[in-house]
Amino acid sequence: MHPLIVANWKMNVELADAVIMTETIKNGLEPIDDVMVVLCPSFPHLPTLAEILSRQPIRQLALGAQNVSSFERGPFTGEVSVSQLKNLVQYAIVGHSERVKNFNETPEITNQKVKLLLKNEIIPIVCVGEFEKGEYSLTATIKLADTILDGLNSHQRQALVLCYEPVWAISSSRDSEPADGKYAEQAAEALHQRFPETKIIYGGSVSSKNIREFTVQEHIEGALVGKASLDAKEFLEIVKNA
Ligand code: PGA
Repeated sequence: MHPLIVANWKMNVELADAVIMTETIKNGLEPIDDVMVVLCPSFPHLPTLAEILSRQPIRQLALGAQNVSSFERGPFTGEVSVSQLKNLVQYAIVGHSERVKNFNETPEITNQKVKLLLKNEIIPIVCVGEFEKGEYSLTATIKLADTILDGLNSHQRQALVLCYEPVWAISSSRDSEPADGKYAEQAAEALHQRFPETKIIYGGSVSSKNIREFTVQEHIEGALVGKASLDAKEFLEIVKNA
């Protein structure tokens, strides 16, 4: 199975840099066969980057959105619908803790997004993870995943990716520290038992130095990378080491 490495550029990159980063990553990926990489830029950059990738497409590189509307169409100022993304991206991140924290998105809203994405054949990358490093964290994470994936059949669960991302491990969180591989594997294994059809990746302060710690684990099949994906060279090192 190819590891899945997702770059979440968040709101950090201007178009000119996004173009250079995409070209650098694409060139660097050409000789690396056994990986799947997804770049998630900001919405306005998607058409330009899609055009770059379509010129000489390579199997191991795709585009993803960082978010999508939970509504299908209509009077929702500022929203971007799944059908508007359909021919631009193959993946979309949903349920990221920054959406939960800053935009009050509930698991029920994320559930709507997952269903709309699946209906339109875009692969949802669903983030789940506890906010605090605490005793009952694993139970809370499973419960969250249960709500977000509610109503999906096994075929649909097979068509999505779950990202276990403990919020305290995200590099921009206060006093953040990466989870260690064993801790992440515990959560990934519990998620795997609950959703055996679903691919599970890890997110939270992943770098070229620690990526292996996660990808060697039995139930972790890749990573969601924030800060370290902003440097194309470092990101390619992560991909090589995965
Ligand atoms: P990080 O971010 O790699 O900077 O910790 C991960 C994320 O928030 O998706």
